Amino acid sequence: MKKSILSLLQTTVLDVQTVARGWVRHKRSGQNVFFITLNDGSTIKTLQVVADAGKFEEELKRVHTGACLEVHGKLIASQGAGQTVELIAETLTILGEASPDNYPLQPKAHSMEFLRENAHLRSRTNTFSAVFRLRHALSYAIHKYFNDNGFYAWHSPIITASDAEGAGEMFQVTTLPIGNPPKDEQGAIDFKQDFFGKATNLTVSGQLEAELGAMGLGKVYTFGPTFRAENSNTTRHLAEFWMIEPEMAFYDIQDNMDLVEDFLRYLIKYALDNCADDLEFLNQRFMDEEKKKKKEEQSEMSLIEKLQFVVENQFERLTYTEAISILLNSNHHKKKKFQFEVKWGIDLQSEHERYLVEKHFKKPVILTNYPKAIKAFYMKQNEGEEAGKETVRAMDVLFPGIGEIVGGSQREEVYERLKARTDEMHITEELSWYLDTRRFGTAPHSGFGLGFERLVLFVTGMGNIRDVIPFPRTPLNAGF
Ligand code: 4AD
Ligand code: MG
Repeated sequence: MKKSILSLLQTTVLDVQTVARGWVRHKRSGQNVFFITLNDGSTIKTLQVVADAGKFEEELKRVHTGACLEVHGKLIASQGAGQTVELIAETLTILGEASPDNYPLQPKAHSMEFLRENAHLRSRTNTFSAVFRLRHALSYAIHKYFNDNGFYAWHSPIITASDAEGAGEMFQVTTLPIGNPPKDEQGAIDFKQDFFGKATNLTVSGQLEAELGAMGLGKVYTFGPTFRAENSNTTRHLAEFWMIEPEMAFYDIQDNMDLVEDFLRYLIKYALDNCADDLEFLNQRFMDEEKKKKKEEQSEMSLIEKLQFVVENQFERLTYTEAISILLNSNHHKKKKFQFEVKWGIDLQSEHERYLVEKHFKKPVILTNYPKAIKAFYMKQNEGEEAGKETVRAMDVLFPGIGEIVGGSQREEVYERLKARTDEMHITEELSWYLDTRRFGTAPHSGFGLGFERLVLFVTGMGNIRDVIPFPRTPLNAGF
């Protein structure tokens, strides 16, 4: 295998011939030599190449930030400060040039907006390469956690005919000619003539299929892209995002909460233990960004302290009803500082969630037992409640700076009760296969969905969800 810059920097065998390949971050001249810092994405660190100014005169004229080089030479202990080893160039090949006249990335600070417009090049910056390495590490840790704990990866379909969340925020999938689709006798679009013989869409969640898997394999998880056509232009929403959805037979809501807490703490600890260089860099970036904010909005903790805090402290668990009463009794409410009304039955707004997490408890929170009316049809209904005050066994995990990071629930496993809900929504027929799990050997079960980008956002301390996925999809934005 070809050696990465990371392995060259870690090597203990010096004074041997070696090869380095990478992109130029910076070039500066010294006495009779040029110092070139190379990065190949294997680490946030760069390898210093020392090139003789006379010998490589012609090549050095063409070496600029962004150019790609292959350098053969000897790796020696560095004489300068800032690095332990350096490579003394014997041959220097320019694999690809980048001209300072038109290469967009220069060795200076670029705005996040500018880098989003240049998303095809931004993986070459320190910030984005660190973010994407962390994204990878977290993705690996997710598979490892589930594998080590007896879960099976379960690949749910991306094209479906159902709306798992019942919110109608779907992207249609069709091969019908959109300018002139075939019509049925009533004049409606005739999806019987469509590719699948019915109307289909991109999935909003793999949960319904995960439940089928859990009823045979016990514990499964999905980890795939999900799509939502909600017109939310916020720093927390994407139209295409990745979701992790474990589903477990025989788990009730308490087991579900224990699992989600253990899982999130494991992932954050994994990042702290395995991504120290990148986190140190992002920690510095986070502190610099915080300093630009108004004093009262600045984080009391550094990024690394925030991550350690989550690993070391239990999440606060309370019911929706208790949360509403905390909000109603808060000075914030009394001083009319909430923009949206607080009363039992509302869908909590991000300002309410953040008040609970950031101001009141100052730690992650798991809220349970939400009003039935604001949650999805598949959630298990609590019994013996007064009319109009019915709740379901939902659980949302709220994180500081993020708001909702996980949504989940115990599922309604009683056939008659679930069917009553699907009847209300006129989806009983299309979900007959889903209802079958409750007709044949039904079992209590639970699961949740973790928004992967919201997790990456939290761990990297980035401010905008568009900056933690290589090519973000948001309203009016599908470039690259
Ligand atoms: O709360 P949600 O809608 O729950 C579900 O989809 C369930 N089927 C999950 C389950 O029980 N298996 O979404 C789950 C999580 C949210 O908590 C949030 O982190 C993330 O997915 N999410 C989004 N992330 C980015 N952009 C969006 N538009 C998101 N919508 C939800
Ligand atoms: Mg939710």
